[in-house]
Amino acid sequence: MIEPFSAVDLIATKRDFGQLSTAEINWMIDAYVRGVVADEQMSAMAMAILLNGMQMREIVDWTQAMINSGERLDFSSLALPTVDKHSTGGVGDMITLPLAPLVASYGAAVPQLSGRGLGHTGGTLDKLESIPGWQANLTNAEMLAVLQQVGAVVCAAGAGLAPADKKLYALRDVTGTVPAIPLIASSIMSKKIAEGTSALVLDVKVGSGAFMKTLEQATELAKTMVEIGNAAGVKTKALLTNMAQPLGRAAGNALEVNQAIEVLNGGGPADVVALTVELATEMLQLVGITGVNPAENLNNGKALAKWEAMIKAQHGDLTKPLAKAKFTHQLTAPKTGVISKFDALAVGIAAWRLGAGRSRKEDAVQAAAGVTWEIELGAAISAGAPILTLHSDDEARFELAIAALSDAIEISENQSVTKPDLILGRIGA
Ligand code: URA
Repeated sequence: MIEPFSAVDLIATKRDFGQLSTAEINWMIDAYVRGVVADEQMSAMAMAILLNGMQMREIVDWTQAMINSGERLDFSSLALPTVDKHSTGGVGDMITLPLAPLVASYGAAVPQLSGRGLGHTGGTLDKLESIPGWQANLTNAEMLAVLQQVGAVVCAAGAGLAPADKKLYALRDVTGTVPAIPLIASSIMSKKIAEGTSALVLDVKVGSGAFMKTLEQATELAKTMVEIGNAAGVKTKALLTNMAQPLGRAAGNALEVNQAIEVLNGGGPADVVALTVELATEMLQLVGITGVNPAENLNNGKALAKWEAMIKAQHGDLTKPLAKAKFTHQLTAPKTGVISKFDALAVGIAAWRLGAGRSRKEDAVQAAAGVTWEIELGAAISAGAPILTLHSDDEARFELAIAALSDAIEISENQSVTKPDLILGRIGA
């Protein structure tokens, strides 16, 4: 086959701050999947994009070309409107677990394809796999059947979805080209659009435990993703939410599932409940379900019933107890005062070192490992009171986890530390 373009010419265009045409982008992605564009050429392209950026039209084309590299799921046979949520990842972010059944309890269908964690951020599938028997892998037909029966499904993305992104993401991971907004936005949105949802709410995390450390970067990422979604016909909105301190009271797989079950029983940490209700409200509004207060179905058992049905449909057995760590280690407050720093990244790294996360994608995770805490920014604490508990099946892991937490917490004698806002901004209709 005679190739219509040359990778070297297209790399040079981006290197020299030029724009790639739609045809050039379609060819570059397709030729990369076919192996005609080599890894070293795509690496150079990714670096040129990281350094020189892309116009919005190019980003939309790049996303569409990645969607076209695989299948696009179609839920148009469902009687219910479809809506999903995507979080850019944080520490203790288990919101999907109560959110998907909550939104389904109001008559929308939530088709969520999720991933496993890598590094300090946990993955939704790892969390759900701590439930005995629960299966992440479903065929497209099984996914549709669970959606029809229950209204919510959380499962692994099959290999057929945006295969160009899979190949490109692995390459970016080893070439220092992950943190480029056009590449992050197109990567996330190609998978969400290919997943077939008709509406999408993005939870873009901001702060130490997030990809985006500043509000400015997070706003740019959110705007880019909202434009991509709307250009592809998916009604898309974004919330910018705080990840300076970890969310809730737990980071770790079974620990977060336990917390989700508390929320679905009408309890749980206030920040998790508030964010779940906020995201559910936005999701329901996008599909025209208005005038409801999603806090109600968290309190009356309706969301819990959906959760039980959703887990059972994927062979999860909620009558069996979740794993508990063989060892725990408690840290206490060295002095009396107010919590003035509680660093999400440090907590995520500690949970990861305790065995909750993986360093390479082949690694196994411990179901029971992680960190739980009793504190939040602005809370008063007395000397000697418990602040953090470490959980692991492997006692030897405590030392490195404690080291990761050495600068994580500050206690100030100044009583005027203000509680930070959870929602920092909104982008989109
Ligand atoms: N998550 C993704 O799926 N892709 C990125 O590029 C970054 C985060």
